[in-house]
Amino acid sequence: MSYTPQRASTRAPVTRVLGIETSCDETGVAVYDGERGLLAQAVYSQVDIHARYGGVVPELASRDHVRKTLPLIRQVLEESAIDAGHIDGVAFTAGPGLVGALLVGAALGRSLAWAWGVPAVAVHHMEGHLLAPLLEDPAPAFPFVALLVSGGHTQLVDVTGIGHYRILGESLDDAAGEAFDKTAKILDLPYPGGPELARLAERGDPGRFRFPRPMTDRPGLDFSFSGLKTFALNTVREALPEAVDPAQTRADIARAFEEAVVDTLVIKCRRALQEAGRKRLILAGGVSANRRLRERMNAAIAAAGGETYYPRPSLCTDNGAMIAYAGWQRLRAGHAEPLAFGPRARWPMEELPPP
Ligand code: KG4
Ligand code: ZN
Repeated sequence: MSYTPQRASTRAPVTRVLGIETSCDETGVAVYDGERGLLAQAVYSQVDIHARYGGVVPELASRDHVRKTLPLIRQVLEESAIDAGHIDGVAFTAGPGLVGALLVGAALGRSLAWAWGVPAVAVHHMEGHLLAPLLEDPAPAFPFVALLVSGGHTQLVDVTGIGHYRILGESLDDAAGEAFDKTAKILDLPYPGGPELARLAERGDPGRFRFPRPMTDRPGLDFSFSGLKTFALNTVREALPEAVDPAQTRADIARAFEEAVVDTLVIKCRRALQEAGRKRLILAGGVSANRRLRERMNAAIAAAGGETYYPRPSLCTDNGAMIAYAGWQRLRAGHAEPLAFGPRARWPMEELPPP
């Protein structure tokens, strides 16, 4: 089934957009103004709710979005100092993600738009991530290659404009963020593991262990990260029982794992720029908040004569600002959803039409 947005050609121009993100375990809300930029944003993380289960419990996520979304909307409207009557459109994440969680944002966003008499638009979560660097100054100009690295996706995309996306490569198994989270669990780190593992890796010795760089010794732009967690598990089993300083050994393993993921991503990004004939690379998605990845990618792409762009860390992880911005781009081009609109757990980004 392909995505066919309706066009609302007779509407007033869309300037101020409310964005709502509820695809997983963060409730993100923001107001974006096409003339003034980002007016306000707020994110509520459900980390404490899911931490004791070691991962996201979908039913608990949905229930908490029900509790948090409306108060957060009130908060960002107040902080933006604009009345609900001055919102010109509502953007909500419609997929991919957890269906129950998506339903909360979709139902609420669609209803608010109806009540306010403004159009609503369904935003693709990964398009939100992909466009987040455009919220920064300087914003990258099209065309560029995007590396999207989140908890659910690892994709290299050739981008020639909004809605012009060609997938160059993607993960055949675990996403980069998922690999971080699973390896963090092996190292007994609390959920959410990615940032915890990165923190531990800072004290690690990069020379003590060496993890493989999966799928870099053959042509192609796909990824496979699931072998790294097995490698981590074997390394932990072999090295920890005999370790003189177990805390340092765990840090050394974390560092070796991080180096392997970063190296693999850097190699594939350089290859993608070369194959697509582009100079600009953007990084987006939760893992792009990783400091080591940003440093290493900057240096490698600069050495190859290219430029790297990434948003501030709070716009790398899930947030409402990227949804408000992507929604604004589509709403001002006339896209709008009918009243009966359902979220989509799976949604290939290449199905998105240009505005
Ligand atoms: O984009 P995101 O917030 O949510 C999804 O769309 O999945 O990405 C979350 C992922 C998680 O796997 C998390 O562990 C990872 O991003 N992550 C990091 C860092 N910050 C978040 N991974 C490595 N280093 C970080 N600093
Ligand atoms: Zn995300």
